[in-house]
Amino acid sequence: MKSVRDVDVKEKRVLLRVDFNVPMEDRKIVDNHRIKKSLTTIKYLLEQKAKIIIATHVGRPEGTIIPSLSTVPIAEELAKLLKHKVYATDHVIHPIVVDQIDKMKPGDILVIGNLRWHSEEEQNLEAFGRELASFADVYVNDAFAVSHRAHASVEAITHYIPSCAGFLLESEITTLKLLLENPERPYVLVLGGAKVKDKTRLIENLASKADSILIGGAVANTFLQASGQDISHSLHEKEMFEACEEMLKKYAEKIQIPQDSVKEDIAGGFRIMDIGPKTREEYSKIVSEAKTVFWNGNMGYSEDEKYSAGTDAMAKAVAGNPNTTVVAGGDTVGYLETHNLTEGINFISTGGGATLQYLAGEPMPGIEALNRDQKSRQL
Ligand code: 3PG
Repeated sequence: MKSVRDVDVKEKRVLLRVDFNVPMEDRKIVDNHRIKKSLTTIKYLLEQKAKIIIATHVGRPEGTIIPSLSTVPIAEELAKLLKHKVYATDHVIHPIVVDQIDKMKPGDILVIGNLRWHSEEEQNLEAFGRELASFADVYVNDAFAVSHRAHASVEAITHYIPSCAGFLLESEITTLKLLLENPERPYVLVLGGAKVKDKTRLIENLASKADSILIGGAVANTFLQASGQDISHSLHEKEMFEACEEMLKKYAEKIQIPQDSVKEDIAGGFRIMDIGPKTREEYSKIVSEAKTVFWNGNMGYSEDEKYSAGTDAMAKAVAGNPNTTVVAGGDTVGYLETHNLTEGINFISTGGGATLQYLAGEPMPGIEALNRDQKSRQL
């Protein structure tokens, strides 16, 4: 895979695909973490006096124009962070965009419209990729968080224009590769949140390397049920029951499920809302003794302070571990940010689904596109 460092971008038109899919309320950015993470690449391109055309998706508008998912507020946030003028348009494939690009001078930045306002993006249509490619001389992918999707701005475009990786994409791959191939042991996985399926695929791929796999959050409920425990009305995934049962048998010496829980009583039973004090203590101890930790997914319903003790204990244990610690996922990173604990983490991945898919050893079309023999390009 070529790095942006290895490609001549001096005064060239560069189409930079980023993942600035950031949470917004009333067109205001609530969390600018993902924008900040691509600043290294943008600043490098500015030093090279490139004409920087920035493209991102926002949300899941599925081919319809939803004004609340405009890229314009993102361009404004970027301008503030860079202290540099940033031009913006809500158009993508449009004569206005062609005209704006024609007028760009070296060092100018233009943020184009939300790619997913066009259904061609998610369909990975070659024609859409070719049109995007026609805007620029070089394509840079710095959007690790969407590189698990075969979308036109991530995959099709690379067929038509010299393509390379930005610094954020490179750093994600370097760090996550280490978790896949060469983690220092003891190696601990802490997996919580809501979706069981994402986690079981990752467990299958990493179980042989990991020493302990600590399960929490709603994910733990299906595991608890599979171990024969009563979970009453707790959130769980019925269709994952057998998979969890199998995992518990196969990796009995590695997987740990909560030994106690914080419950909420409801009519006709209860709901599990957080891991209990004994589990907090046990999990924290294992994390503090690890040489490598990967954490994704909160331990309970941490939005409510009554049920945040499990996530808080994990956050403090991971942040307090001086060895290799990697955290991924919006809710988990969000918790660390609001509690000022990010400083203690070695690497915060910008990916959610992408990070889990990479660690599960599954295909990453955006990365494969950059690794493909560039001679196979059609133009
Ligand atoms: C994310 O937020 O994980 C990425 O931007 C990908 O978004 P998607 O799951 O809608 O493809």
